[in-house]
Amino acid sequence: MSDEFSRRQFAGLAGLSALGLTAPALAAESAANPVAAASFPDGFVWGTATSSYQVEGAVNEDGRGKSIWDTFSHTPGKIEDGSNGDRANEHYHRYKGDVQLIKDLGAKAYRFSIAWPRIFPDGTGAANPKGLDFYNRLVDELLANGITPYATLYHWDLPQALQDRVGGWRSSDTSKAFGDYAGYVAERLTDRVRNIFTVNEVGRFLYFGYGLGIDAPGLTLPDAEVNQARHHVALGHGLAVQAIRARGRPGTRVGFAENITACVPAINTPENIRATEMATREFNSGFLGVVHEGKYTEGFLQYARAAAPRFTAEELKIISQPIDFVGLNIYAPQYYIVATDRAPGWRPLPMPASFPHMNSEWLRIAPEVIYWAPRIAAKIWNIKDIYISENGTSGEDRIHPDGQIYDLDRIMFLRNYLTQLQRAIAEGAPVRGYFLWSLMDNFEWIFGYGKRFGLYRVDFETQARIPKLSAAFYRDVIARNAIGV
Ligand code: BG6
Repeated sequence: MSDEFSRRQFAGLAGLSALGLTAPALAAESAANPVAAASFPDGFVWGTATSSYQVEGAVNEDGRGKSIWDTFSHTPGKIEDGSNGDRANEHYHRYKGDVQLIKDLGAKAYRFSIAWPRIFPDGTGAANPKGLDFYNRLVDELLANGITPYATLYHWDLPQALQDRVGGWRSSDTSKAFGDYAGYVAERLTDRVRNIFTVNEVGRFLYFGYGLGIDAPGLTLPDAEVNQARHHVALGHGLAVQAIRARGRPGTRVGFAENITACVPAINTPENIRATEMATREFNSGFLGVVHEGKYTEGFLQYARAAAPRFTAEELKIISQPIDFVGLNIYAPQYYIVATDRAPGWRPLPMPASFPHMNSEWLRIAPEVIYWAPRIAAKIWNIKDIYISENGTSGEDRIHPDGQIYDLDRIMFLRNYLTQLQRAIAEGAPVRGYFLWSLMDNFEWIFGYGKRFGLYRVDFETQARIPKLSAAFYRDVIARNAIGV
């Protein structure tokens, strides 16, 4: 088989030289006739993303308190490869080198998260100035290298003390503590950090952590309590927005990053597109919807019935304060939708088991999701500024005998998703930037170090970072501000 392949390959090469197309000739040809490239708007923000617990390590340094992910990852059986984030990428100490990795890509933006238990080891009360110092150093290093910082305040590492004391997001005390933490950080960082994401992926951490028990804190609560906890997260977001506006520099831009329950029309008829818009609104009522509409939809409340969250009008007002942008984390579509004659007018289709996926089984390959999700979100909630706050894929990432990682699967994935994103923007979707997940391989939550999402491969023994071929691909996209089509 491999003989056959190399013979075919050889025949191909021989054919090219017969045409006079040797390598230099091919290069000249392509310079004269460059591959068509679809451009992104001027000023489009190209970045990469990471999060605190996934890369920092140094969990016991400089007064950091414990987070729920420390506890969870140290609980036997919770992480597939039995690992934890104690050391992770040692980014806490290696951040200067990591900033150079971003710079080498030509990326002008970096989305990182702040570990709440570094700032308030006990969740509330006395702050730990040494914790904030790390982010001061990181932000200064980014700015010195021409990279704009985008900070996320909550990427899942809740102070364990809050979980122990009040049950984490089960209590609105955590929402209030989050507001205070947000204000404290805003006061000290917004002279340099002009863009803040409050929370990351409510749609995942809440249900997986409080309903399914597969993320920290590992609870399996009844629906009513899950819905109440989600409401407290929304309230925490609103209180954080208020605190940032009150205590941050004027003009600080605030939003959040959500893994929108992404719906795609099964076939692009006007009826299905309309049905997909309705489905998107209903499926996302618990966070994206209530934040934008200041109310839960009738459909959401009817479906939840007795399990619906309890709330006051005052809380809904806090939750739905105006924000400056929305971050959408886009990976796989959740549902393909068709229109129906019967109420509610839409129906999700069952997903065939043979639907193709990437190295992570959950990551179904559907580039059209990054076309539809921002377009539909912008339309139903009248959003003016969207960032793709995460997109990317895991891959096998084997090291070839020559020391290189030829991650053609990741390049295929990115090329197709970026092509669809460009198409959405060209048709008017208000997407202002794109943060690739991830800058480097890291601690992928329940998968431990078994799933690699980075543009740089990380050897977790030696901490060496090696650029994969996809790093060169992304560098080329950024340099041209365009994607070859
Ligand atoms: C998102 C998260 O869910 O996707 C990231 O915001 C995460 O933190 C990424 O690393 C990949 O997900 P997973 O579950 O495969 O690690």
